[in-house]
Amino acid sequence: MWNKVQETVKFLKEKGISTPDFGIVLGTGLGNLSEEINAVVRIPYEDIPNFPVSTVKGHHGELIFGEFGGKMVLAMRGRFHYYEGYDIKQVVFPIRVMKYLGVDNLIVSNASGGVNPKFNVGDIMLIDDHVNMIPAHPLRGANDERFGPRFVDMHEPYDLEMIRKMEEVAEKTNVFLQKGTYLALQGPTFETPAEYKMVKSIGADAVGMSTVPEVIVAKHMEMKCMGLSVITDLGIEGQVEQVSHEEVQKVAKIAEKVIVKLVKQFIQSF
Ligand code: HPA
Repeated sequence: MWNKVQETVKFLKEKGISTPDFGIVLGTGLGNLSEEINAVVRIPYEDIPNFPVSTVKGHHGELIFGEFGGKMVLAMRGRFHYYEGYDIKQVVFPIRVMKYLGVDNLIVSNASGGVNPKFNVGDIMLIDDHVNMIPAHPLRGANDERFGPRFVDMHEPYDLEMIRKMEEVAEKTNVFLQKGTYLALQGPTFETPAEYKMVKSIGADAVGMSTVPEVIVAKHMEMKCMGLSVITDLGIEGQVEQVSHEEVQKVAKIAEKVIVKLVKQFIQSF
């Protein structure tokens, strides 16, 4: 893994990517944020050595390096999900690469189903904690100390300073933010009413199929993380309705404009 990461890093450096201030993972329906980046380079995943290739409709696979909010950012347009069939270590490979390109601050985004009865469709939730229920752990197996320690402290998975800053930005821009715990399940099925109930009873506020593996390896490598989740549907007892990928994308697309504004100002404020 180490050699593969270094090989990919070397390739990307040769393409002109150097020390981004922020890494950004753009989740479902949020890929167009990348249009707002003044790109220096755009590289399709299929051209990057050792990168997996995205298989999901609507998840464009492209790495973009450029200026956004006055800083240099490296954005992943489209991520890899465990449910697509990748090994969990492939899912998190780009995060390893980001770290060795110089990324210390990571912004992750996703779409999720809300189980908190105070949530509405279209809300944006600032992730302040997570529960990992994807049945594969990205740090399972022999630990490579060059990446990080065997046992990783997770007492602050989402950086409190970044959370505070994002809350400040939201207040200044008159954006209402929810805050809560994101629970990751494998998918690709959306939850049954009983599963949404389980998610809620565990103590989570929203459920999705991504992000947590990336945050785990980011923490393994001492990166700071900030996460935003668009609530695209609700899994509230007695009100669980039909969900489709198209609906999820549609709602995320609407919230995207707000996310672009928030993330831009957040980065500017650094
Ligand atoms: N469940 C899981 N993943 C999701 C959901 C959901 O309700 N909405 C968007 N992604």
